[in-house]
Amino acid sequence: MADTATDAAPDRNWNRGGLPGWAYHNEALLALEMDELFKTHWQIIGHVNDVPNPGDFITFDVGPERAMVVRGEDGQCRAFHNLCRHRGSRVVAAQGGHCVNAIVCPFHGWVYNFDGSLRGVARPDSYPGIDKSKLGLAPIELEIWMGFMFIRFSPGPQGSVKDYLAPYAPEFALHQPETLVPVGKPHFSDIEVNWKSVRDVDNEGYHVPIAHPALQDLYGFNYKDYAYGPGLSVAKGVFAPNSGRRWSVRNYTRLTQPIPGLPADRHHLWSYFGLFPNNVFFLGPEAVYFYQEIPTRVNHSVVRFSVYRYPTETRRQKLARYLMARIDRDTFEEDRQLSIWSNESMKSSAFEDFHLSDLEISVRRHHDQLRKVLPVVNLASPPPAAEMAGRNAALRAARAGCAVDA
Ligand code: FES
Ligand SMILES: [Fe+2]
Repeated sequence: MADTATDAAPDRNWNRGGLPGWAYHNEALLALEMDELFKTHWQIIGHVNDVPNPGDFITFDVGPERAMVVRGEDGQCRAFHNLCRHRGSRVVAAQGGHCVNAIVCPFHGWVYNFDGSLRGVARPDSYPGIDKSKLGLAPIELEIWMGFMFIRFSPGPQGSVKDYLAPYAPEFALHQPETLVPVGKPHFSDIEVNWKSVRDVDNEGYHVPIAHPALQDLYGFNYKDYAYGPGLSVAKGVFAPNSGRRWSVRNYTRLTQPIPGLPADRHHLWSYFGLFPNNVFFLGPEAVYFYQEIPTRVNHSVVRFSVYRYPTETRRQKLARYLMARIDRDTFEEDRQLSIWSNESMKSSAFEDFHLSDLEISVRRHHDQLRKVLPVVNLASPPPAAEMAGRNAALRAARAGCAVDA
C-alpha cells in the first residue's frame, strides 16, 4: 500500500525540477486554476457536526464561488450557492451559524426554506405571476465521507469522494471520525503568496530538521512520506512518549493520551493525508484537523483551518490538544516565512529551477498532478493571457490516450 520516503523514488533519476517560476505569478493561470482545479475538484467544507441542528449552516468561498451547507428540517445536509436568486446577495453573511425558522436574505428579505426552496418574496404584490418553484437556491454537489462534508461546484475528474479516498478509509476509521466535535468555527490565516508556494512548503519533510525546531524535537527523523495513489499524499511522524527538550514538546509527550480503541501503533503518531489539489487532514491521538490553501489573488492566499476534538475528551487530552496546537502554530509561522521566500525567489534573475531531494518527492508528485490537469505549466514561458485556456485545452487534447486521473 505505502512506500517509504526513499522507496518512494525507486528510480533515482526522477525529474527533480519544479513548476516554472511564471506559474506562481500569472493572473491568467490563476483564472484557469479556478476553473480546472478549484471548481472541479472536491473541497472540504466541514463536518456534519459543524451543523448539528436544522437551520445550522457553514460557508465556503473560493474565487467567484460561494457555497453554504445547511441542515434541513428533515435532518439532511444540503449544499447551495450562497447567492440570492433575486439580485445575488449572500443569503447568509457569517462563516457559520444558525438560521431561525428560515433563511432570510439580508438585502430585500426573500425567504428560503432550509431545503433551498423559495418560501416567499417581500412585497409579493409587486411580483404578479411569480413562479416560486423556479427560484430556489441553486444546489451544489455534496458528499459526506466519514462525517466530513465535501463540495464540488462542477463535475470533475476525481469521481466520488468515497472512491477517491478509499485508500485512506481504514486509517481514518480508527479515529472514529463520525463522532468528532468541532472546536469553534474555521479560522483563517492570510499569506501574501500564491497558493502553490504554501502547498510546496507543506508537502515535504526535508525541511523539518532545520526549519521546525519543535517538530524536529517531537518526531525528529521519524518522519516519512508515503504515496497512496494519484493525488493522495501522506506523511507520518512518530514520536516517543516522555521525550523532547522544548517545554511544549516535553509536556505534550508526557500528557498525550489516545482515545479508547485507538490501536497502539497510532498512539504516538501524527499523520497527514493530502487530497489534491489543496486539502490536508491531520490525524492525531487527541485531535483531527483539516486545512486548505484557498487562492484569493495570484499573490495572496488564505489558509482555512478547522479543529475537531474527540467527544470523550478528558481534561488531560484537552491539555495535550492545546500543546499540540501550540507546536502546530509555531510550525505554521515558520512555514509562512519559507513560503514567502520561495515565492519571491521566482521573480529573481537568479532563479533557475527546484533541485528536489528524494525526501521532497511529494512536491514533485503534486506538480505532476498539476501538469496533468494544466499541461500549459510545462511551457517554459507563459502564453499570452488571452490564449492561456485555449493553449491548455489544446495541449490536453494533444496528449492522446493519456487520461487525466488527478
Ligand atoms: S438580493 Fe436577496 S432579497 Fe434581494
Ligand atoms: Fe513546514
